[in-house]
Amino acid sequence: MDVQRFIEAQVQEISRIVGGGKAINALSGGVDSSVVTLLGHRAVGNRLETVFLDDGLMRDQEPEFVVSAFAPFGVNVKIIRVHDRFFKALKGIEEPEEKRKAFRDTFYKCLGEAVRASGATFLLQGTIKADIIETQKGVKTQHNILEQIGIDPQAGYGFKVIEPVRELFKPDVRKVAAALGMPPSISQRMPFPGPGLATRCLGEVTPERIAVVRQAVKIVEEETAGIKAFQCFAALLKDQATGVKSDGSRQFGHIIAVRCVESEDAMTAQPVHLSWEVLRRIESRITHEISGVSRVLYELTPKPPATIEYI
Ligand code: XMP
Repeated sequence: MDVQRFIEAQVQEISRIVGGGKAINALSGGVDSSVVTLLGHRAVGNRLETVFLDDGLMRDQEPEFVVSAFAPFGVNVKIIRVHDRFFKALKGIEEPEEKRKAFRDTFYKCLGEAVRASGATFLLQGTIKADIIETQKGVKTQHNILEQIGIDPQAGYGFKVIEPVRELFKPDVRKVAAALGMPPSISQRMPFPGPGLATRCLGEVTPERIAVVRQAVKIVEEETAGIKAFQCFAALLKDQATGVKSDGSRQFGHIIAVRCVESEDAMTAQPVHLSWEVLRRIESRITHEISGVSRVLYELTPKPPATIEYI
């Protein structure tokens, strides 16, 4: 792939489509939406409004990270806090696809409102090839796929969608990110799914349960920082199990699964052979630092038959 040519072609294409109009994009802090942000910024400058929907399902400190990562590029990220809308939409839902649909619907409603408030008529999205394939195969509802499955964003939500990286798989998106001048903290960042921690929370998504899984994800990311892997994270299982606290009292507590996989393009994945030392450190930190956790498991399943995320 000729990265420079790709960048030039996409910048030209975005500028041709948007013309003298306004565009908006939702930046998540992942490499896909980061690339789209910079391509759009190069193409139409300040006529691109970049928003970050703070949905309450992101990693720890994510809004702060995104604002400071894009400031050097002259991109002003507008944070829109919509925690309550997402928790309300997800309340009581346990079925995975229903959760994904509730997320997607709330995401586009919030984004649709941001689009209308901004006066933009185009939405730039970081959809990549793997997202399209998985959704078309019916494996799961990716949050950012609309037109490919017959939902008209113009009629449904009020904007036209531009997807500059829809033909690329993750490794090429990373190359484009590096060529655009992004630091490795973004260009090499582990993928994080659009529906965020909701994909790592089996059972009901509540602020309390998300707080537990957020802290566990943070610990796993910290303890595996130097390890070569496509993704390392934690998930909160729906069930609970019996444990015993240091004071000898019994607790029926949370079960956290730790998942660390190697993959090229997320279409298939293999579990990573973490050292016993790393695994024990993760277990010890999770059980000591997060109250109410009674068990920590390490997952061995490749993709297929499992998917990478838990819903
Ligand atoms: P699965 O769980 O399908 O994940 O094996 C494959 C890759 O995609 C990420 N993922 C998502 N990314 N929106 C996204 O932007 C989504 O709805 C979504 N679901 C999964 C996942 O983290 C992995 O890298």
